[in-house]
Amino acid sequence: IVDHPRMTVIGTGYLGATHAVCMAALGFDVLGVDVDEGKIEALAEGRTPFFEPGLPEKLREALDSGRLRFTTDFDRAAEFGDIHFVCVGTPQLPGSNAADLRFVDSAFTELARRMTRKALLVGKSTVPIGTASRITAAVQAVSPLGDELELAWNPEFLREGFAVDDTLHPDRLVFGVSSEWAEGQLRAAFRPILDDDTPLVVSDLATAELVKVAANSFLATKISYINAMAEVCEATGADVNQLAVALGYDDRIGPRFLKPGLGFGGGCLPKDIRAFTFRAAELGVGQAVAFLEEVDAINIRRRVRTVDLVRELAGGSLEGVRVAALGAAFKPNSDDVRDAPALDVARMLYLEGASVSVYDPEATENAHRAYPDLDYASSLTEAVTGASVVALLTEWDEFRDADPAALGELVAARHVVDGRHALDADRYRAAGWEYRALGLPAGPHPAAVPAVARVAQPAQQLQPAQVGQASQ
Ligand code: UDX
Repeated sequence: IVDHPRMTVIGTGYLGATHAVCMAALGFDVLGVDVDEGKIEALAEGRTPFFEPGLPEKLREALDSGRLRFTTDFDRAAEFGDIHFVCVGTPQLPGSNAADLRFVDSAFTELARRMTRKALLVGKSTVPIGTASRITAAVQAVSPLGDELELAWNPEFLREGFAVDDTLHPDRLVFGVSSEWAEGQLRAAFRPILDDDTPLVVSDLATAELVKVAANSFLATKISYINAMAEVCEATGADVNQLAVALGYDDRIGPRFLKPGLGFGGGCLPKDIRAFTFRAAELGVGQAVAFLEEVDAINIRRRVRTVDLVRELAGGSLEGVRVAALGAAFKPNSDDVRDAPALDVARMLYLEGASVSVYDPEATENAHRAYPDLDYASSLTEAVTGASVVALLTEWDEFRDADPAALGELVAARHVVDGRHALDADRYRAAGWEYRALGLPAGPHPAAVPAVARVAQPAQQLQPAQVGQASQ
């Protein structure tokens, strides 16, 4: 067992770039590897190809320390590493619920083919259960090391927006291993984190794979649970925010991930629950996770219902109505638009004939690439000016902090749909706005809300592009 292992990190998307930087920050020598030359060049120059608070500073510190370098050369990687972490993306296969494992398969085999001394291969990507044992056989078949070559699985639970902190101070570490040697290698690699009394679960490979999808499924279920309650609230006049607070005081339930609204999106939760459903069916236990299809369906219904609220405020039709869509990223402090509820709502509004102006503080470029036909404003002021309905879709601080009276001067009609329960309803109502949110009673109708202005609009056609982003 190498005491101070040299590490490679294959795949420098969200997960890999963060892992490489954090491992160098912990004092290890790290080589980041990717097939994308542009990405490697940017990282080597101290630029992250995505928005993540705190990461660029940490990246530059690591580069200055001389402990972190980047390459596209797999020969060099195979030679360098005592431990190879594979962090490439496992996106949803187009037209299917299954995960696309091409990148994972090729990263492992490209490396294994070139390995001439014993080193540990560690998967960090989120994969269907059974992938590690399948890949073990595949890499042993192509590597000069044959069955001496070993695989481990070490799932990663980092959240975008908190990537550095989650990596350096995780809730727990999980090592899926098939030998004491592999466990020892991983203990050496995570020594500084384990020394902080971070809980460790050592398991077999399948359990380690399952922990990740089971955790994400639980989180998605918790969000859809409160959003299902929001649907019940809407039918009864109850208040879902008060309900969530009251439920959250029960320690067994807890308040986190119980925030109702537009629901979950991003590069993980939606595709992970779908891939899990798909894999469970393959394994003959589809019924065990059939509820996840309902979790997904509840989540999608929230988007449709948000469009309903905007339409209601617009007087029953969206044709020619100018709507300010505030937010495009799947959550604040991120520029990630993969499966973003915000953009999906903007798209649906557009398809119903609304004139939609989308504004996001960080994600406009990615949003534009995914949906080139939508209109993008370069400021909050520009987006809301002349709008008849303002829809808050991602809860950036900039939107929370905006002054409702000042915004009211810019719009054509003071109608707001708060898709994330992020605004102060009383302040908006006091400033003459009609405020609506999912799972809340409609509330008092301010007398002074002017009628909706309509503009002539050409018939809409929108081709949603495949939303793809940095590998992970
Ligand atoms: C998630 C998991 O949290 C993380 O552990 C895993 O490694 C990757 O997937 P991430 O996708 O970065 O992380 O975002 P997260 O903060 O979990 O939010 C996911 C989505 O759920 C967002 O769209 C967010 O807006 C939504 N959400 C979250 C809610 O709608 N309500 C909540 O109460 C919490």
